[in-house]
Amino acid sequence: MQINVKLQDSKLDYTVFIDELTELKFDTKVCVITNQKVAGLHLKSILDILVCKELSVICVSDGEEYKNFDTINHILEQMFLAKLDRNSIVIALGGGVVTDMAGFAAGIYERGIKFINIPTTLLAQVDASVGGKTGINNKFGKNLIGIFNQPMAVYCQSKFLQTLPKRELYAGLAEAIKMAVMLDREFFEFLKNIDTLKNENLVKIISKCIELKANVVSKDEFENGIRSVLNYGHTFGHVIENQTKYKKYLHGEAVSIGMNMANELALKMGFVSKEYIDEIRDVLEKFSLPTTYKVDDENEFYEAFFLDKKSKDSKIKFVLPDEENGFRICDDIHKVIVCDVLKKFQ
Ligand code: NAD
Ligand code: GLY
Repeated sequence: MQINVKLQDSKLDYTVFIDELTELKFDTKVCVITNQKVAGLHLKSILDILVCKELSVICVSDGEEYKNFDTINHILEQMFLAKLDRNSIVIALGGGVVTDMAGFAAGIYERGIKFINIPTTLLAQVDASVGGKTGINNKFGKNLIGIFNQPMAVYCQSKFLQTLPKRELYAGLAEAIKMAVMLDREFFEFLKNIDTLKNENLVKIISKCIELKANVVSKDEFENGIRSVLNYGHTFGHVIENQTKYKKYLHGEAVSIGMNMANELALKMGFVSKEYIDEIRDVLEKFSLPTTYKVDDENEFYEAFFLDKKSKDSKIKFVLPDEENGFRICDDIHKVIVCDVLKKFQ
């Protein structure tokens, strides 16, 4: 299956191939960026089908805590040692951490060279590998440094998910539930009704998410409007990840808690009924995703929102579910209301 991502703003377009990777042939140097774990599991299957002028492989340390400038510097140094030129192609092979960093490094190496994403986690297949957001974290927060940089192609191979631990698979599903709640009620019903993540269901989830994401990004590549819906759960989730130093929760798990917090805020605002948000929480919990978090100090939690790049001019942008229209984007909710909701999580 192939899904075209056609971007109205930059006029770029590229294809996402789902379970259609048989050969990668380039008349240039190629540099594969991955980590030891993924390399051990899947690098050979890529090298077996790769033909290029000269190959280099860069392995980065595994984990969100390494998604930083030190690792970018390491990647860039290795790229220079491999003497990549402006025609060379980077292949990102890994989860969202690798694809976000490889896309960023490719975008700034000699003012930018092309890159291809081969995502190997569900999260990266349904979300991170498509849409061009690339970057790293710093001590002020998550993904605060980066660039929009679109890949030249994306290859999602559902077979790679066979080696993924269940916890990681479910964390990826959180991003799929996010898109279903915001954008596609029928897809939400599908997720509500499945019990297992057998391959057939995974392929449907991957293709549906990419279709939904491609549609949103094609209209608003640089997140000036509709693309914000993809941040549902993230405003709260990023604070949780930051407060727990990226150690306690996987990204998708923090987003899952964040969605539940956003739902409670939507309930308080009268956008949704209790039944509506209970249904979403049930789907999250069916896939063992966390939905609660102990907020020690609601004022401190609230102040942490302002570190997020989505908070502009002292306004926090909340992406909330709406029973009638799917979603609402609000930047004028009073602090007292938000803190009241946060108190429920103590
Ligand atoms: P990850 O990249 O850390 O991968 C999770 C773990 O699975 C890692 O240990 C990894 O080595 C391992 N792994 C990867 N593929 C595997 C496989 N096939 N089998 C076994 N193990 C495998 O985490 P993630 O959840 O993929 O990505 C999270 C990151 O993605 C976050 O940094 C988040 O900010 C980013 N993200 C970016 C976007 C975007 O639009 N750019 C969207 C969502 C998330
Ligand atoms: N993952 C959110 C986005 O791509 O906009």
